[in-house]
Amino acid sequence: MNEMSRRNDLGAVIAADRAHVWHHLSQHKPYETADPRVIVDGKGLRVWDATGREFLDAVSGGVWTVNVGYGRTRIADAVRDQLVRMNFFAGSAGTVPGAVYAEMLIDKMPGMSRVYYSNSGSEANEKAYKMVRQIAHRRHGGRKWKILFRERDYHGTTIAALASGGQPERAAQYGPFPDGFVPVPHCLDYRAQWDGPDYGRRAADAIEEVILREGPDTVGAIVLEPITAGGGVIVPPEGYWPRVQEICRKYEVLLHIDEVVCGLGRTGAWFGYQHFGVEPDIVTMAKGVASGYAAISCTVTTEAVFEMFKDDAADPLGYFRDISTFGGCTAGPAAAIENMRIIEEENLLENARAMGVRLGAALRALQERHAVVGDVRGRGLFWGVELVADRASRDPLPEAVVRDVVAAVLARGVMIGMTNRSLPGFNNTLCLSPALIATPEDIDAIAHAIDGALAEVCAAG
Ligand SMILES: Cc1ncc(COP(=O)(O)O)c(C=O)c1O
Repeated sequence: MNEMSRRNDLGAVIAADRAHVWHHLSQHKPYETADPRVIVDGKGLRVWDATGREFLDAVSGGVWTVNVGYGRTRIADAVRDQLVRMNFFAGSAGTVPGAVYAEMLIDKMPGMSRVYYSNSGSEANEKAYKMVRQIAHRRHGGRKWKILFRERDYHGTTIAALASGGQPERAAQYGPFPDGFVPVPHCLDYRAQWDGPDYGRRAADAIEEVILREGPDTVGAIVLEPITAGGGVIVPPEGYWPRVQEICRKYEVLLHIDEVVCGLGRTGAWFGYQHFGVEPDIVTMAKGVASGYAAISCTVTTEAVFEMFKDDAADPLGYFRDISTFGGCTAGPAAAIENMRIIEEENLLENARAMGVRLGAALRALQERHAVVGDVRGRGLFWGVELVADRASRDPLPEAVVRDVVAAVLARGVMIGMTNRSLPGFNNTLCLSPALIATPEDIDAIAHAIDGALAEVCAAG
């Protein structure tokens, strides 16, 4: 069979996948007796698998990525045009789309100034960690090398990124990990760790306690998701972010915000941190930057951070000696330029806000109808629904039952996600992140499918 006819023979494709592809985050035993799902086509919010089944994708490609939806020929055309002209040049030189996109991006990020390109969220975060470490060496005599991270947050899959991850099931069995990454408590008030009023401020105070315990002269940075994604869709409570900013300034701790999920419109603003009036020193982003049409990530810094890497031109080790081969691929910024134009021209930030209000209201209505819905959290088109076995005790619904709910939603033609291999005993939050183009009908269809699935799988309350 030649390659072309093979591509048209979906049975052969499924067989090839079963025989040779190692899927991410997947136990493969079931594929010994069942076919893996192979996704063949996508248009708007919908995808079709190799058997011809249609799904409404409420998770933007499974991992909150395809912000502008599937089938955008103008992105493909822009990438193609760029590739035939100049596909790649190493990052020591500039490229046309790299320069144009950097300017467009900085325009959306007042206070930020420089864009460093790479290929994945993990890599963007690694770059940031290396910047913090190098600043410690150059500015603080090797001190201020520790990086704080928060329980439940996730920053990527590489060894250092896992060392800074607050999800023990992701990290288990991959250690030992490098030193210098220190956890701070999570800020989910539904699972409150402190009594009393002003929970946001209290949760942020916990960061100060860690800094004081470790020694402020040893702490260089803190990395935080603006709204935690895979750890349970956690919107920090009122008062949290201003206090975090205050603490960072007080102890000269760089504030690194991981916008890999929230960035590029997911929450109804260009960036999640912009809801909270925070001024970061470093921002990382990936998934929605080009909506999955090309691999691209960015580590964005203030001019003040950037300046620290060029203030001694005589020092051969004084600049950022990082390298990212594929950070020089022009497909990424070429796709990202069109992606950003689409978000602007189609008013997708506004749509994410309006549809987010509708989705939030629909999910809260489900909370009224189903005792199993313990908490509903989110912003824009980014929502989590925490399922509990008992509302009073807030005991989490067993993971296997949550999985059944997700499967029952899928059986109704809607793809949703759930917290997966993150926190022991707490993989109990349904995750929703439809593309920013979602219509009222799409939102209602998603809520309707979840309603039916909860009624089928869990005793309605
Ligand atoms: C908040 C956050 N940061 C970083 C990453 C890592 O991104 P990547 O998988 O592109 O390396 C992820 C991936 O899900 C994420 O959710």
